[in-house]
Formats: sequence, structure tokens, C-alpha cells
Amino acid sequence: MARWVEVCKVGDIEEEDVIRFDYDGRTFAVYRSPDDMYFATDGLCTHEHAYLADGFVIDNIIECPKHNGRFDYRTGAAKGAPVCVDLRTYPAKVEAGSVFIEIA
Ligand code: FES
Repeated sequence: MARWVEVCKVGDIEEEDVIRFDYDGRTFAVYRSPDDMYFATDGLCTHEHAYLADGFVIDNIIECPKHNGRFDYRTGAAKGAPVCVDLRTYPAKVEAGSVFIEIA
């Protein structure tokens, strides 16, 4: 069953940045875009074992820290070699000054 889970306060993620969020044995990456929107994906790269929160956010792209693979964090779409498998995405929202993601 899906449920909304509080990740952090709004100010805890800088604009155009990402944080790691561990919950219930899983790891997520939660992003704040340059236009102040929030997004969430799985926290591990689909190529090899690397935490995306250690990578760089550039506009709407997360660049993996290990081999510089890139994903569009809004859709999860892999944007070229070496990544070819899309990331899973999760709905995100802001409510009462906190960021929530919906986890199935
Ligand atoms: Fe992410 Fe290789 S582990 S691109």
C-alpha cells in the first residue's frame, strides 16, 4: 500500500541539489530543481552500485558520481551510456513546510 513519508524540511535541500533518504531498508534520492520543485527517484544508480545523492544536479539532470551516467530525475529517463535502464520515480509534495514522497 502506498503512503506519504516525510523526508525533511523544505530548507534542508538547496536549490538544484539532492539528498539521500533511507527508509524501511530502501534508499531514495530526493531533488530540488532550479525552479523550486521536488522530485524523488531510487537512490542507487541502475548501472552499478553508487548513491546518486553523491552526484551532481545540473538543471533537471542527476549525474552519477561513479561513471558520470545521467538521468532526468523528473522522469527517471536514462540519458545515455553507460546508463541504459531508467530510474524508478516517486511522487513528491510539500506540505506544511516539509517534503514528502509517496512510497509504494
Ligand atoms: Fe552510475 Fe556507473 S554506477 S554510471
